[in-house]
Amino acid sequence: PPDISLTNVKAHLAQFQSIATANGGNRAHGRPGNLASANYVKGLLDGAGFTTALQSFSYNGATGYNVIADWPGGDPNDILMVGGHLDSVTAGPGINDNGSGSAAILETALEVSRQSLAPTKHLRFAWWGAEELGLRGSQYYVTNLPAAERSKIKGYLNFDMVASPNAGYFLYDGDNSDGVGSDPGPAGSAQLEATLAAYFSSIGVPTRGTDFDGRSDYGPFISVGIPAGGTFTGAEGIKSSAQATLWGGTAGQAFDSCYHRSCDTTANIDDTALNRNADAIAYAVWTTATATPPV
Ligand code: PHE
Ligand code: ZN
Ligand code: ZN
Ligand code: ZN
Repeated sequence: PPDISLTNVKAHLAQFQSIATANGGNRAHGRPGNLASANYVKGLLDGAGFTTALQSFSYNGATGYNVIADWPGGDPNDILMVGGHLDSVTAGPGINDNGSGSAAILETALEVSRQSLAPTKHLRFAWWGAEELGLRGSQYYVTNLPAAERSKIKGYLNFDMVASPNAGYFLYDGDNSDGVGSDPGPAGSAQLEATLAAYFSSIGVPTRGTDFDGRSDYGPFISVGIPAGGTFTGAEGIKSSAQATLWGGTAGQAFDSCYHRSCDTTANIDDTALNRNADAIAYAVWTTATATPPV
């Protein structure tokens, strides 16, 4: 798997920041910075050879957008999806939440193109709208997917907040091995978690499970039985002293003290966490999509 360029990921974050600054300070559903963000992502993917669609939906009297990008080739009956939400809250530009996941998956997609990757699985990337209003874009996508198309999606990887300034290294606890949350996810979620865990293990970074409760865009997928996984560096939760010992950073403070605030800017990013998570995404995509037989 490739080493994803932190410089390139941060260049996308700078663009998301500029878009927010030029559009009233946010990239929220129903605001012009939301569509401008979608057009930025779509333009780069179109130029890289993806087959893209801008799926629009209506929520709360405003139009929302999902960017869906298919990489041509692979088994059309065995699809791996990778996604994250592109909208911010209205309070700020949403650079960690979720410029970080959006930029990391964007750069992974562009690297797929640069390498002319020919995976055994079909790869589909998604940037969701209106997550902050209740997973509206991802729910719209899953709900409106014909049953025959839905059954082709064998796994979904979600990335929402992967560069928190007081970072933890969490994996959605799809196997419930950490006893976090109530239930394991659909069969296959454990394998996605194990693949992400293998990457962090390879770089010597310990991970912990986090609730697999549907509090991000993987929720609609697991609701219909599609296995899911993903990483998370923490939001409003407070880092414990044990977690500070494990990962560094500051005990007694939030993983992201600018969560859903105007200060979630390009200054609100931990480069090390962003770099590690971007590389973890690429590792999981390459490992899952190029395996023969696919895993
Ligand atoms: N979905 C939450 C938000 O955007 C953040 C979150 C991500 C929470 C992943 C839990 C797990 O505000
Ligand atoms: Zn989020
Ligand atoms: Zn949020
Ligand atoms: Zn687990």
